[in-house]
Formats: sequence, C-alpha cells, structure tokens
Amino acid sequence: MNDHPDPLSSMTSVSAAPTWRWPALALASWAACWITYAGVSHAFGPGWPAAVVALGLGLMLAGLHAQPWRRAMVAAGFPLALLVSGAALPGWAWLIPLAVLLVAYPRRGWSDAPLFPTPHDALKGLPAVIALREQAHVLDAGCGLGDGLVALRRAYPAVRLHGIEYSPFLWLLARLRCPWATVSRGDLWAQSWREMDLVYLFQRPESMPRALDKALAEMHTGRWLVSLDFPLPGQTAHAQLETGTRHRLHVYRIEDLRPAPPLPPA
Ligand SMILES: C[S@@+](CC[C@H](N)C(=O)[O-])C[C@H]1O[C@@H](n2cnc3c(N)ncnc32)[C@H](O)[C@@H]1O
Repeated sequence: MNDHPDPLSSMTSVSAAPTWRWPALALASWAACWITYAGVSHAFGPGWPAAVVALGLGLMLAGLHAQPWRRAMVAAGFPLALLVSGAALPGWAWLIPLAVLLVAYPRRGWSDAPLFPTPHDALKGLPAVIALREQAHVLDAGCGLGDGLVALRRAYPAVRLHGIEYSPFLWLLARLRCPWATVSRGDLWAQSWREMDLVYLFQRPESMPRALDKALAEMHTGRWLVSLDFPLPGQTAHAQLETGTRHRLHVYRIEDLRPAPPLPPA
C-alpha cells in the first residue's frame, strides 16, 4: 500500500489539532472566515478587502488538512457562501447544499469513509484468485451508492449479494440501483459477518485494524476478506491484484489472519 499512490491514501488524519473531529474543523474554519469578514468589514467598511482577508484565512486553514477533499471543502466554504449570499438569493440559501450534504452524509459518516465508488471493472480479476460457489454470500460493507455491488456482480454473477450503508440517502439510492442485492441500512460494524463467504471493503486506513478484529472474531476458515486500496495491518495478503484502475486489491484468506501485535507503549 505504501508504494501505491491512490486517491484515498491521504484519508488518514487531520495533520493539525488531531483532537478535533471532522466536520467540526470545517464548521469552525467557515465560522472563523465569517467572523474575520465581519470584523474587517466593521473596521474598514464592507467590500473586497474584507473578503480577501477572510478568503486568505480560509486558504490557510484549508492548508492544515492532509486530505485534498477536506482542503477543498474548507477552502470553498466561505467564497461559495459569500457568492450565494451576495446574489439575488436569500442569505440562508447557502444552507441548502449543506443540508443536502448532511442528509447524504450523516455526521457520523463524515468521520468514516467518505463516498468514493469502486470502478465497475475493478474486481474482474478476483474470480481467478477466489472461486466462489453459486449462491455464496458476499457483502459490500459500506456499500455507498452500490458501485461496489455492481463490480461484485460483474465478477460473480451467480452469488447472493448483500450491502449495508449508514447514510439513509445513499442506502436508498443503492437499493434502487441494485434491486438484485439485499441492501440494508445500518452500521457495518454492528452487522454480523458470520454468514459471509466474502466481505468486500472500501473504507479507510483507520478502519482496517477494526476490520481485522471483526474478521478474526466472526469469519470462518475458507472465507475471504477483500479490501480495495487499504491493507489489513500486519497481515500477509494471499494476493494483491492490480485492477486496471488506479486502485489495488488486497485479498486475505481468513485462516491466514493473525491478531495484530499490540501497539508499543506511547
Ligand atoms: C469509499 S465508500 C465505498 C462505497 C462502496 N463500497 C463502493 O466501493 O463503491 C465508503 C462507504 O462506506 C459508508 N460507511 C462508512 N462507515 C460506515 C459504517 N460504519 N456503516 C455503514 N456504512 C459506512 C460510507 O457512508 C460510504 O458510503
């Protein structure tokens, strides 16, 4: 994984102020921009100087984030809101896209893996490594809009596909997109993996120790865990596959997994 550049490898941690959780940092940054804008406007009169100072602050705060998508969100929040509030729309109109985002991504989802879809052909090499019987149970844990399910179906047209998704909005869309799969709404960590022949994950690096513990606790010998882009910590993969996309697959046989060594004392 370390030698493999990918778009999500930077979804690790906020480089500054690690005790703050996303999206609190984004909200605080946007608020700081507005307070600065109001302060400079009050002192020197409203106009572009106040906007430039506040914009500069927003860019500085955005630079504190390691992840490009978080940098973009922090940097874009203030200018977008300013643009909208300066137009013919009412000032609160900028809350509409925020509300849509919150519905699509409930607060908890923001601190978990954001929505990045699996390319539909990314899993087509899997059957050469994992032969699954017909009607085997395959789970996309955190199925988003259903793209991972589509990719799994292309690889294994005869298996029974399951998905679970935390966001109600994404869950609904995945259900509509994938009527051939059983898509439930809920927390992937609360759902049992005991009946699954293969669990597919496209989550975050931070999620992988938890995925290892869950697989060890719940999955049986002869079953499989497959992760797009993010390896299980301290484990030797049964196979690592290039996908023909910018992503790489890490394939694990459950009987090969070992508990992660304890972390050294801080
Ligand atoms: C990177 S996307 C991958 C989507 C899909 N698996 C795919 O490959 O196309 C991760 C998804 O996992 C969902 N997710 C993150 N944490 C979750 C949790 N604890 N329970 C259920 N879904 C979760 C997110 O809402 C997001 O839709």
